[in-house]
Amino acid sequence: MWPRFTKSCSKREAMLMREIETETPHACRVVILQPAAELGGAERSLLTLLQERSAVQLDASVILPRSGPLGVALSSLGVRWEVVDQPRALLRQSRGPRPGTLVCAAILPFQLPAYLRRLATALRAQAPDVLYSNGIKTHVLSAIVAPWLRVPLVWHVRDFCRGPILARLADRVPSGIIANSHAVAADLTRRMRHPEKVSVVHNAVDLTIFSPDGPCSAVALQRPAIFRVGLPAVLARWKGHLLLLDVVQQICARVPGTIFFIIGGAIYDTVREHGYEQELRREIVRRGLEESVIVTGFQNDMVPWYRAMDVVVHTSTKPEPFGRTVLEAMACGRPVVAADAGGIPEFVTHGENGLLYPMGDKGALAARVMALLADSTLRCRLGAAARQQVERSFSAKRHASQIAAVLRTAVRSSCRVGVPR
Ligand code: GLC
Repeated sequence: MWPRFTKSCSKREAMLMREIETETPHACRVVILQPAAELGGAERSLLTLLQERSAVQLDASVILPRSGPLGVALSSLGVRWEVVDQPRALLRQSRGPRPGTLVCAAILPFQLPAYLRRLATALRAQAPDVLYSNGIKTHVLSAIVAPWLRVPLVWHVRDFCRGPILARLADRVPSGIIANSHAVAADLTRRMRHPEKVSVVHNAVDLTIFSPDGPCSAVALQRPAIFRVGLPAVLARWKGHLLLLDVVQQICARVPGTIFFIIGGAIYDTVREHGYEQELRREIVRRGLEESVIVTGFQNDMVPWYRAMDVVVHTSTKPEPFGRTVLEAMACGRPVVAADAGGIPEFVTHGENGLLYPMGDKGALAARVMALLADSTLRCRLGAAARQQVERSFSAKRHASQIAAVLRTAVRSSCRVGVPR
């Protein structure tokens, strides 16, 4: 693989070496490979990074698999992007044995080589100093094209990887790996021979946008309610909407006038999540919960929704790699009730800045939500401490400079070992 090549640095790399030594950084040219064009957690996190790009001297452009809301958001930030159309079979690929997955997998080998060639051509034209991959699909694709183009590669790993393949590639190809939590890093490194290339960079939110004061969602306030409880998450099965439905009746019986908002859309058109929104809506009707549970659909601006909630819950039934929506709610000064698994306990401390419950435990989830609804002083105390915690440790500046440092180190080390161009 590329780190073994020995050839001298290009002029640009030599310049980067000099600037690192003299600590006057020049812009580092990074091309970002993005697996999805929707606005999920990984994409919002990327936008938070790109907002700070000039402060950390990154000259960034993005390659998308198709046009979509992320492209629009990038344009409004003034970030260059282009689409290299991904084969549909690859776009819809998701893990898990569901009908359709096999068909997609069967077509894929015929479409992949041409796609990889198009991707390589687009990348070559941009002559990046470093490639940055922002999701599992692009981790695999970039592990093929980066050695081919002899460009250093950094992965931003935001998911738990099942099986050893990703860890094997992680050992061989990328020179730097960023994990979004210690939980994700531990999961990956336990299968790796070179764990030293993994650094943890926690997510961040823009504290001026995600703030407690400002307009609340008029749509949420329109509904007469004594308390509003929100579950912000993409409509995917593992986000645990059914777990929430399981506790709605119990909570409404004890705290009448509580309305639950399921905030989010079925944004990823993958085989696994196909039809989930309809299933969820049917389930709400079947349980007779139409008056107590509102499904809002996708919301581009989440901030007014957070502000309108008395409590924000997180109900994922699998460990959350990080749990960005929980951090966003905390930045808006909301008291949160979150599952004690994955990355969440790295920023939520039970009883200090939120409440935790054992993942999947309905009884405990209901008890924590009811405890908060019953006690306005507790809600205020946890909400204020949550905001302080985000201000202290999760600023966008800290996030961008840590990521930029990993990118620059990758360029520098590839230069040292002489990755040829
Ligand atoms: C992925 C993870 C989520 C995390 C986000 C940002 O979407 O599933 O837990 O918050 O990436 O890193």
